[in-house]
Amino acid sequence: MNPVKAKGPQVQITKDGPYVVSGKVPLSQEIIGTNEEGESAKWKHSRTYPSQERYALCRCGHSSNKLLCDGTHISI
Ligand code: FES
Repeated sequence: MNPVKAKGPQVQITKDGPYVVSGKVPLSQEIIGTNEEGESAKWKHSRTYPSQERYALCRCGHSSNKLLCDGTHISI
């Protein structure tokens, strides 16, 4: 029996490392916008990343290039 090849977007959770997202998924960042009282109000578009076939998204919170993994997780 041949293994079934998945098509389309995929997310691989690596052991003690990043989420590896593949399938040319659009990637953008949103931030929490505030109202006149300085309270959290709604999400606002912040940045769109160049399209890539694959991304490694930081899951440890220690990357210097958030939201992308920079390999720092290896030393922590
Ligand atoms: S998962 Fe690699 S730096 Fe955070």
